[in-house]
Amino acid sequence: RTKIARIYTDAESLGGELVTVAGWVRSIRDMKNFGFITINDGSSFRDLQIVMNRDQLDNYDEIAHQNVSAALVATGVVKLTPDAPQPFELTAETIRVEGASAPDYPLQKKRATVEYLRTQQHLRPRTNLFRAVFRIRSVTAAAIHRFFQERGFVYVNTPIITANDAEGAGEMFHVTTIDPMNPPLSPNGEIDWSKDFFGVPASLTVSGQLNAENFAMAFGDVYTFGPTFRAENSNTARHAAEFWMVEPEMAFADLADDMDLAEQMLKFLISEVQRLCPDELAMLNRFVDKGLMERLSHVAASTFARVTYTRAIEILQAAVEAGENFEYPVSWGIDLQTEHERYLTERHFKRPTFVSDYPAQIKAFYMRMNDDGKTVAAMDCLVPGIGEIIGGSQREERLDRLERRIADLGMDAEQYRPYLDLRRYGTNRHAGFGLGFERMVMYLTGVSNIRDVLPHPRTVGNAEF
Ligand code: 4AD
Ligand code: MG
Repeated sequence: RTKIARIYTDAESLGGELVTVAGWVRSIRDMKNFGFITINDGSSFRDLQIVMNRDQLDNYDEIAHQNVSAALVATGVVKLTPDAPQPFELTAETIRVEGASAPDYPLQKKRATVEYLRTQQHLRPRTNLFRAVFRIRSVTAAAIHRFFQERGFVYVNTPIITANDAEGAGEMFHVTTIDPMNPPLSPNGEIDWSKDFFGVPASLTVSGQLNAENFAMAFGDVYTFGPTFRAENSNTARHAAEFWMVEPEMAFADLADDMDLAEQMLKFLISEVQRLCPDELAMLNRFVDKGLMERLSHVAASTFARVTYTRAIEILQAAVEAGENFEYPVSWGIDLQTEHERYLTERHFKRPTFVSDYPAQIKAFYMRMNDDGKTVAAMDCLVPGIGEIIGGSQREERLDRLERRIADLGMDAEQYRPYLDLRRYGTNRHAGFGLGFERMVMYLTGVSNIRDVLPHPRTVGNAEF
């Protein structure tokens, strides 16, 4: 492979050097005897300016007539221009067209709406906005691994195809090997759709948690980080049918340990993005969310609020009495809606907020029952602008309690035999949480719609490419 400089990555060492760069045309200005081309080579959302002179390039006219997004390979000398908006430029000695671009390239205009760009999923990564968002997504993913690896957590890959509905919410996509046009029929003429994965039931995972718990019982501290799927028909700016989740699980840990880990992780991810993506943050702060950088700095320096669900309900009820108009009425026992979550974190506490100890009836079966017999050791982390970003809990480690809960909910105990076994062979207090990775990227970029932080969003009605 020819050595191609990544201009914004390698710049420091390149002043005065003859280098080859490769990228896609953003604009061309032809002044007859000389011209300026800006290309983007993917090393930053910022473009590189190339100066070309007619007397130096025998294919000057060919280059001058290229369309936006043509793929070029240029060789020339890098000149550092620290006082110009672009910190360097390249004076071309040769430019080769590797692939021309058709004149109907859809993203000619510099500023297109995000709604329009969603219709151009295959091309939108070439825009400044999406170059910034997806670089931050990549940097955040790597930082997640660093955070856990540096603390000795073992990375475990949990299955995507599974029969367990970890959240018990019945929001699973069925996996089927049955051809619906030609289904095998039983003697009574019926298809058993529940046994459609080569004879056993299977779906796409909604959470890796139960599998991660298995590994926590061997390695102590583990995490999964992978795609999860929810067949909920929620057409909102925060829900996707396919999203990524980060799920740590710690043996010999309780709910307070869980919240401590979540707070440290969120602060670490913010500081890593501040350290590694300052240009991206500045650009997003300017064009997407004017409060972004200040908010992130504020969070990194704050102590998160911690409040019980019962206290949160009191706060919300006081707000209603003071004239706050919520769409959903507030009373003890309700599942908090986004409007409630945002009130708590944006207007009452004004910083990230943990709400803990929710009513058992609105939470999943595996959460540890508190001594009051009504609430469970659950926590959600709410952040301004988004609402719930993390959901976690201390798990029910007592065999009899867990068996009773599974029976009360009418779940199939046989299916959860391995999970119950963990409570028979060396059970211990343990806790974990799930961070919605896309919601974290939204939080870090100020982007307000989940469709714009997913490379290829799978939301209601979107799966084409
Ligand atoms: O609160 P959830 O459902 O928790 C669990 O799945 C637990 N098993 C996690 C654990 O304890 N290991 O989901 C966790 C997070 C939510 O807080 C939210 O950020 C995100 O996952 N999430 C979604 N993100 C995008 N689209 C959806 N449809 C999401 N559903 C949940
Ligand atoms: Mg949740």
